[in-house]
Amino acid sequence: MAFPKGKPVSLRTERVKRAGKTGSARPGYPATRLRRNRRTDWSRRLIRGTQLTIDDLIWPLFIVEGERTRLPVASMPGVDRLSIDLAVKAAEEAAELGLPAIALFPNTDSALRDEQASEAINPGNLVCRAVRAIKKEVPQIGIICDVALDPYTSHGHDGLMTDGEIDNDRTIEMLIAQALVQAEAGCDILAPSDMMDGRIGAIRMALEENGFTSTQILSYAAKYASAFYGPFRDAVGSGARLSGDKLSYQMDPANGSEALREVALDIAEGADMVMVKPGLAYLDVVWRVKEAFRLPTFVYQVSGEYSMIMAAAERGWLDKDRVIMESLIACKRAGADAIFTYFARDVAKRLKA
Ligand code: PBG
Repeated sequence: MAFPKGKPVSLRTERVKRAGKTGSARPGYPATRLRRNRRTDWSRRLIRGTQLTIDDLIWPLFIVEGERTRLPVASMPGVDRLSIDLAVKAAEEAAELGLPAIALFPNTDSALRDEQASEAINPGNLVCRAVRAIKKEVPQIGIICDVALDPYTSHGHDGLMTDGEIDNDRTIEMLIAQALVQAEAGCDILAPSDMMDGRIGAIRMALEENGFTSTQILSYAAKYASAFYGPFRDAVGSGARLSGDKLSYQMDPANGSEALREVALDIAEGADMVMVKPGLAYLDVVWRVKEAFRLPTFVYQVSGEYSMIMAAAERGWLDKDRVIMESLIACKRAGADAIFTYFARDVAKRLKA
């Protein structure tokens, strides 16, 4: 390529002279022009440091009772709660697109929610039936289930209450039983999202003792007490009933190093992979976790992140497709090995096209 025509020749010769004096180009401009590598599409592709592929994506699905039932989530435009038959269809679509895994979240009937979260340990509960149905029809896709009591408690908390407080150790007993019924149903990856202390070790031992030696555990190790979960709580029906907040068990958004302690403990207790959640506002934590431990590190682009992008796009304020790709590549750049995202299907379609 020729030099831009308008450039004064004298300036160029002056630079060449300066360079000649030292025998080599000076550091910095003009010897270094970072724009050289960016000029063409082929060059940009060649130097690209991070790739986003379909293999990086996990698609969360919300499940409801019924048949041929599809209930929109008002605060998450484009996301529906699906009855099991439609969830099977969605899983088929996901498998055809090459998505490695889906994550299932039940919206339990109000009548079945109680103080003790009894429905969580019913082997015939909604999520267990969904797992069985999907495993039967789409055995090649990985299934991830939350281990936490919030879809089942009348008060919307992830744990059981004793005297107005979340009771860590009593909750763990329930989580173990919940993990076992889900593993029995065929769940491949158990993902404790409750943030009780010691639950990873307790669940791991119970799995080993009961012959589930291959069931993977993805710990929501660094899960923050975030307002970005609002739309999710609408989707599973726990938001309106939630009494108080989750600050006594989920992490303070102001803390970074504490995430490393959480992750270290969960690895020691037998986690196969860990998660940081939410995504975009916590990518520094993803980076630190990946740097420190070098184990599979996932990130959850949560419901509120989805809704923010959708709301701005609906108003024509953001280019939806580009913002989605940018937010996901940012997760990868920060070190995430995989990303939970409600955009998984749409992005997989685009990556395939
Ligand atoms: C429940 C759970 C939550 C999410 C995943 N599992 C909500 C919460 O902890 O209140 C959030 C996911 C999202 O916002 O997309 N333990």
